[in-house]
Amino acid sequence: MDFRSQIAAADTLAAINADALIVVLVGDAAPASLDKPLAAALNDAVKHGDFAFKAGRTLYLHRCAGVKAPRVVFAAAADGSAKAFKTAASNALGTLKGLGVKHVAVASAGGDELGATHAEALVAAVGDATYVYRHTKPSAPEAPPMAKVSLLNGKAQAGEVAQALTRGQAIAAGVQLARECANRPGNHCTPTYLADEAKRLGKAHGLKVEVLERKDAEKLGMGAFLAVSQGSEEPPKFIVLRYEGGAKGEAPVVLVGKGITFDTGGISIKPSAEMDEMKFDMGGAASVLGTMRAVGELKPSLNVIGVIPTCENMPSGRAIKPGDVVTSLSGQTIEILNTDAEGRLILCDALSYAERFKPAAVVDIATLTGACVIALGNHNSGLFSADDELASSLLAAGKSALDPAWRMPLDDEYDEVLKSNFADMANVGPRAGGAITAAMFLRRFTKKYRWAHLDIAGTAWKSGAAKGATGRPVGLLTHFVLSQAKPSASKRGAKAKA
Ligand code: BES
Ligand code: MN
Ligand code: ZN
Repeated sequence: MDFRSQIAAADTLAAINADALIVVLVGDAAPASLDKPLAAALNDAVKHGDFAFKAGRTLYLHRCAGVKAPRVVFAAAADGSAKAFKTAASNALGTLKGLGVKHVAVASAGGDELGATHAEALVAAVGDATYVYRHTKPSAPEAPPMAKVSLLNGKAQAGEVAQALTRGQAIAAGVQLARECANRPGNHCTPTYLADEAKRLGKAHGLKVEVLERKDAEKLGMGAFLAVSQGSEEPPKFIVLRYEGGAKGEAPVVLVGKGITFDTGGISIKPSAEMDEMKFDMGGAASVLGTMRAVGELKPSLNVIGVIPTCENMPSGRAIKPGDVVTSLSGQTIEILNTDAEGRLILCDALSYAERFKPAAVVDIATLTGACVIALGNHNSGLFSADDELASSLLAAGKSALDPAWRMPLDDEYDEVLKSNFADMANVGPRAGGAITAAMFLRRFTKKYRWAHLDIAGTAWKSGAAKGATGRPVGLLTHFVLSQAKPSASKRGAKAKA
């Protein structure tokens, strides 16, 4: 898709040449700056009760008198923020679904100039509107033919807006990759599939990809990861992707993604209701792949490593049983009281493995606990970190990507419940504070570097009629990675002077 920014003031919109013109409206009346033919149509609709300046409302007009674009959509925004702009643009794009719109032009009226954050938000909205899952449903309507999107700006902010469009497109492609991987059912998206996808990604975007097999994991001593895998016929894979944009030897940012391609719960089997949604239990892995894709495209100046432990969690004659004790890669022993708390078992070995990279920071991303969904619902991902600076970088990244996270506690007191009479720790505590105790478990394996954990159980997918992967938190992660890159030479100079 071709995104560009075009200079066009609000009073020239009627002359815009496009298949559809979207005008996002800020405020509670037709803006005085709005082009006459558009203002006339809008006021007429308001007079007849067909439109109101209330967030969420849209108005579709076909061949509006005096307007060059054959389709016009007005969409009311709650305010002038990028977030409200994105919501309004998504609503407007929704009204164009199924129409033959190839070139859409998007403007805003009544608020401040559209800036870089609006530009990036628009690309995300278009990315979401144009993704269609078809892999196992070829009868699904094809993706809209949208090929060109113009962001109409009153004034040139050329440099920043252009950069934001580029960043937005790389993120949108990463989000689409993550959505596609996670949407594919467990019998298609297997650990082997994820490994192949990583290799494809490596070829296309210049990443080094290495896949460790079961025997490699055995040699290393990944007893916790292997314990989860042992109940399944699907071979486990341990995937490592490297993006080398920094100096050789420069400490990398490491992203670790939970890749359970299906979570039955194992012997501590889950109830059948909604168990199908456990195909999304590799959402963390998908977000690492999506982020690595975006990073491979944007080429920031730093080193980034993606680590994905992936396997199925199945009950079988060979599966782990409650009470089994395993030895993790760290040497610490774990009593597996509940085989459904498998995510932390595969992650703890991946987190120990990450030590070898002498990382600048490690962030793990996991659909880890139902308790996190109870705590935060489906809007914020749960963020856990004992490092204030790392936590605030991640929160800021989530804010700017409109992919928010909320910080959760990690006090030492929460660690008590992981005590075991038979091993260094148990893999679960009681129900209370389940998202926190899961994070406390991971913390025991992350003492050698700066670490943060994102629990995306509530944000990685949607249930119900809109069932499907969201591609979150690719936006947050990409913004975070970019924020950790060395500033370019010119910016460094500016900072030194200041
Ligand atoms: N993948 C699940 C977490 C999950 C559950 C995410 C529901 C989204 C919706 C994870 O492996 C799991 O089963 N966690 C258990 C932990 C418990 C046994 C301590 C849970 O949350 O119930
Ligand atoms: Mn589980
Ligand atoms: Zn799981």
